[in-house]
Amino acid sequence: MKVTIIGGGHIGGACAFGFIKSGSVEVNVTARSQETLSKYQNSGIVATSDNVEAAKWADVVILAVKTSQMNGVLEQLKDVLKDKIVVSMAAQVTPEQFSGYAPYLIYAIPNTAAAFSNSVTFLSDISAGKDRMKIVKSIYDTIGICIEVDYKMLPSGISLASCGIGYAMKYMAAAVEGAVELGFSKDEAAKIVCQTVQGACMVVEAEGFKPEAEIKKVATPGGLTERGLNAMDKGGFTESVINGLKASL
Ligand SMILES: NC(=O)c1ccc[n+]([C@@H]2O[C@H](COP(=O)([O-])OP(=O)(O)OC[C@H]3O[C@@H](n4cnc5c(N)ncnc54)[C@H](OP(=O)(O)O)[C@@H]3O)[C@@H](O)[C@H]2O)c1
Repeated sequence: MKVTIIGGGHIGGACAFGFIKSGSVEVNVTARSQETLSKYQNSGIVATSDNVEAAKWADVVILAVKTSQMNGVLEQLKDVLKDKIVVSMAAQVTPEQFSGYAPYLIYAIPNTAAAFSNSVTFLSDISAGKDRMKIVKSIYDTIGICIEVDYKMLPSGISLASCGIGYAMKYMAAAVEGAVELGFSKDEAAKIVCQTVQGACMVVEAEGFKPEAEIKKVATPGGLTERGLNAMDKGGFTESVINGLKASL
């Protein structure tokens, strides 16, 4: 499968590196600046500033530019995109804005763990149809898990996984800050927090995702963990997380 990503910035780059690692996708990436193009040196990914040639080469063209940059790209690629499967990673550009440019349109919203083959990607078929959707899913399956949703559910998915990876990191940053107050160096704290979070993921996954039950196993009544959890709840931890998710809709 030949995939071109127009816009090899943060998320375009994360997907490009994830795809190429899978060994089952050939990848071209475009960007404007030499600085961005140079990060693809010796990666097996072809990087160029020629959007038109890169799009012509591909079976699937992924658009990963910022909302404000999309119109210019669509105008430039108007003649090429009409025969291609077009994937938008720019959720804030509406399907109407693609009308007249991309007859076979799918939205795919991954997160930055794509670079490490651990993305959660939300896929939404706008006008591509089942067979083309299958092709796009097979591409994104190489960089993590895919969840197919109606277009109206995309904002919720983005909040939970694309913004959500940042929210998970927010907990980690807070834990590191606390660990330093408890006397650890920042490096020690980072290692401890990372391993603890990875361990928590493994435990809840192995036990069929029952985090509340797992918390009970850790928190003996009247014990230290319970004291900590109570302090977190008093500080509005759960409510803050839910408010954060809703604020990013
Ligand atoms: N970041 C995320 O976690 C995430 C997750 C899901 C979806 N998204 C969506 O993905 C899109 C990109 O976000 P981002 O964070 O990756 O932004 P970004 O880092 O700014 O990347 C945008 C890239 O597009 C390139 N570009 C701009 N105009 C171009 C043009 N005319 N031709 C070719 N390349 C062009 C830029 O090139 P230069 O670097 O050379 O300027 C840059 O590398 C946004 O619509 C965002 O909403 C982001």
